[in-house]
Amino acid sequence: MQMNNYIELIDKKLDEFIKIEYPETIFKSMKYTVTLPGKRLRPIMCLETCKMLGGEIEDAIPTACAIEMLHAQTLIHDDLPCMDNDDYRRGKLTNHKVFGEAIATLAGDALLTYAPQVITKYSQNLSPSVILRVLNEYFKYAGAYGVIAGQVVDIESEGKYLNINSSSENKEDAEKILEYLHLHKTSDLFQLAMRTGAIIAGVEDDRLSEITEFAKTFGLAFQIADDILDEISTFEQMGKTMGKDKAEGKLTYVSLYGLEDAKCKLTCLLTKCHDIMDKQNMSSVIFSQIIDNILQRAGNNK
Ligand code: IPE
Ligand code: IPE
Ligand code: MG
Ligand code: MG
Ligand code: MG
Repeated sequence: MQMNNYIELIDKKLDEFIKIEYPETIFKSMKYTVTLPGKRLRPIMCLETCKMLGGEIEDAIPTACAIEMLHAQTLIHDDLPCMDNDDYRRGKLTNHKVFGEAIATLAGDALLTYAPQVITKYSQNLSPSVILRVLNEYFKYAGAYGVIAGQVVDIESEGKYLNINSSSENKEDAEKILEYLHLHKTSDLFQLAMRTGAIIAGVEDDRLSEITEFAKTFGLAFQIADDILDEISTFEQMGKTMGKDKAEGKLTYVSLYGLEDAKCKLTCLLTKCHDIMDKQNMSSVIFSQIIDNILQRAGNNK
């Protein structure tokens, strides 16, 4: 399947899975952010992992869509005034700008809790033990040991690590914290996507750890690219306000290492992704396209 076929399939299913019922406000608010045109990378990577490892794409669709709903939840809450205070997302006004803060907060909560129900309700082809494993992954990566941990450390690091001297001890602390927060706030959902795709395909544990290593590296690279693009890209390209990280004093690869070193680190990590793919026999045109697209937009070999 090609990238645009995946996107069409995911968009169609997301639309089907979220129906507008009473009380309409909450379903409209949930559906608003979910159906805005995101890149759909996490569900694509879930489906492609499943296919690459010999599983049926169809079996992974509810899980892939649930992960996109979880991702939309993280975006809605990330944009709230008490978090990053952003007005635009995916080229449109953020959820709280359209529906108000109370409904946006509730829409995030509703997506977080509805998504696992999509997995249990629509995964007819999966055995109860596979569903249980998938749900366990979902709750682990969505919760306080996962993306929430990353978001907490992101918020707590704001304004704390500015103007760090390259030889100071403080820099080592900042480096560790930065890697921790990127791994959790961003890699965790890519790990969730690829691990569940692999579990649905029925792989053994050693294969799962190779997949996890790839997803972890990819997620770290993806967030570094997002940090770089916040500095060098435009609203038209990204659909969100640029330059916010600097304005808010965020701890990012660009703030800690500078733009050029951040680009080198990104290029290095994406090369590592290619190496893992070659070494582990993970041959996928889709993954190569995703990696090369990021490299081209944010890397240092343009
Ligand atoms: C945005 O993710 C949040 C980050 C982890 C940087 P994406 O860049 O995948 O956002 P969409 O889904 O395409 O809108
Ligand atoms: C977002 O990191 C990570 C999550 C939403 C969990 P950012 O705060 O950098 O993402 P953007 O730039 O707002 O998309
Ligand atoms: Mg944030
Ligand atoms: Mg943000
Ligand atoms: Mg960002």
